[in-house]
Amino acid sequence: MQDRTNARTRLLPFLASLAVLPLLLLAGCTRQEYPQSSLHPTSDYSGWIQHLNVILIVWVVIIFVIVQGLLIVAVVKFRARPDAPPPRHVHGHTGLEIAWTIAPAIILALVAVPTVLTIWKTQTLPPGQPLKVKVVGHQWWWEFQYPDLGITTASEMHVPLQQTVVVDIESADVIHSFWFPAVAGKRDAVPGHTNHIWFTPDSLGTFPGQCAEFCGLSHANMRMKLMVETREDFDRWVADQKQAPAEPDSTTLAGEGKRIYAQAACIACHTVEGVSAGVIGPNLSHIGSRTTLAGGLFPNTPDEMARWIADAPGRKPGAIMFPLAQLGITQDQIPAIVAYLQSLK
Ligand code: CUA
Repeated sequence: MQDRTNARTRLLPFLASLAVLPLLLLAGCTRQEYPQSSLHPTSDYSGWIQHLNVILIVWVVIIFVIVQGLLIVAVVKFRARPDAPPPRHVHGHTGLEIAWTIAPAIILALVAVPTVLTIWKTQTLPPGQPLKVKVVGHQWWWEFQYPDLGITTASEMHVPLQQTVVVDIESADVIHSFWFPAVAGKRDAVPGHTNHIWFTPDSLGTFPGQCAEFCGLSHANMRMKLMVETREDFDRWVADQKQAPAEPDSTTLAGEGKRIYAQAACIACHTVEGVSAGVIGPNLSHIGSRTTLAGGLFPNTPDEMARWIADAPGRKPGAIMFPLAQLGITQDQIPAIVAYLQSLK
């Protein structure tokens, strides 16, 4: 009797903790706290993934309850008792063996059918007239080109609400993985090969994304943002991006910054339309209109930009942007360069 009470007092907290664990894990998982989550779908594609997820979780919970229930029954019913005879040995049981072969086969089929159907659904050609975006992964930032609109930008992808977007994914160097958890699954960016993904965003907002394939020292610093905007906001953004970069007044600090920029090593790697044509680093033609710097790592403020130019490799491990001395800029020229770049709206 004493043994039985002890066993119960040990078993109950264990069972209680099993029940509480998922609740603890789910508690507080809000979009605000964890914006880079695939559990708050904001597109057709991520909605399908979420639906599949729920189906699979239901199956898994049912299987878990059955298996753990049988386990607990077996543990309690067949536990060792004082003076009990040694258990009977059993060798082979055809019925059981057939059952535990067929049961997993049925479970796998139940998992496979909705999974394969979802894969087919996401691999079809996109409906309607999609917006084309070409994404190129670089160590360690994302380039976004809109071939039909003649726009090249970096780290921030703008799309209109309810507009199907087809993304062609490439890489300039190593394998990266393009991933905006809120709207779609991961897709590898492979050198010399183009992958595709499409989705139709159904919620306005800014959604963070992340390279999801280890690609070197600053893999974790290879971030991006998806801006889902109203059609009017998107069209305004497109019109701004298509304009030639602003021309600063030559007598201002920004004008001085332009002269310094045009003579520095910056031009070997960066494009500013009409000024330089480098393609190794991000296109800076409209850098002043972006919210982030350095592959989405820092907010695009004059202070952060000055710090970034002063010591890029020190602020982002492995960054191939030159340190200040090799850029051909001095420390006291940085404010002018910053004023120029910030003026490029
Ligand atoms: Cu690019 Cu990880």
